[in-house]
Amino acid sequence: MILLKLGGSLITRKEVPFSFRHRVMRRLASEILPAAEREGLVVVHGGGSFGHPLALEYSLHRGLSSEHQLRGVALTRHAMAELNRLVVGCLLDAGVSAFGVQTSAIAKCSGGRLEGLELSTVRWLLKHGLVPVLCGDVAQDSELGACILSGDTLLRVLALELKPERIVLATDVDGVYTARPDKPGAELVPEITPREAHRLKLSLEGGDATGGMRRKLEELLELAKHGYTSLIINALEEGRLRKALSGESVRGTIVKR
Ligand code: IPE
Repeated sequence: MILLKLGGSLITRKEVPFSFRHRVMRRLASEILPAAEREGLVVVHGGGSFGHPLALEYSLHRGLSSEHQLRGVALTRHAMAELNRLVVGCLLDAGVSAFGVQTSAIAKCSGGRLEGLELSTVRWLLKHGLVPVLCGDVAQDSELGACILSGDTLLRVLALELKPERIVLATDVDGVYTARPDKPGAELVPEITPREAHRLKLSLEGGDATGGMRRKLEELLELAKHGYTSLIINALEEGRLRKALSGESVRGTIVKR
């Protein structure tokens, strides 16, 4: 079974609110099809310019402290439902039997941490060869009222529960760099282990509602400690996702024990 995260900055234009990259997603869907036909697959996607602007506007990552935020909770769920529908629609058009699963209906958080995930629906879909499509979402939180659950955290917990053979994080950059990728001298780090991670002086952007590349890497390093190898790739490059899903070696960052 393969676990795939489609980053929000890959499937949406991050700088333009609510702009879905239809063309990109259609191509990604056609690259996903062979893997979906070959083996079990679970897709998680991020919030991009659908989820993050609302989550930040209503400060949902800090939990609920005022009534005004309730509208933000509802709007964020609505935006993620819309994005999930668009992603699932492209997958269906390409021939993938994709099935949207509402993350906020199956996730329980506490203090911003994901504490429980009710996976019977996901297991049922996998058992029958359907492709569950989950997303980062607004979620119930027993301490904070509500929180923003990132697709990367979801990916980690799904991996620990479903024990995939392969984990791929598809983004709009080639992987983890030694400095900001647009800076001269910035180099792609081809492989990172938990042991080396703290020695590498990595420049990882934050700035969104769930902590940018830093959070992504932390979740993957945590998985590496449990023995799971994952791969960060730039899926804007045509063919790379298809290759990564079939286990071919591609440019990217491998995170492993
Ligand atoms: C964020 O999910 C979900 C919301 C903002 C509601 P992610 O943190 O996984 O999103 P990306 O991939 O960084 O856009």
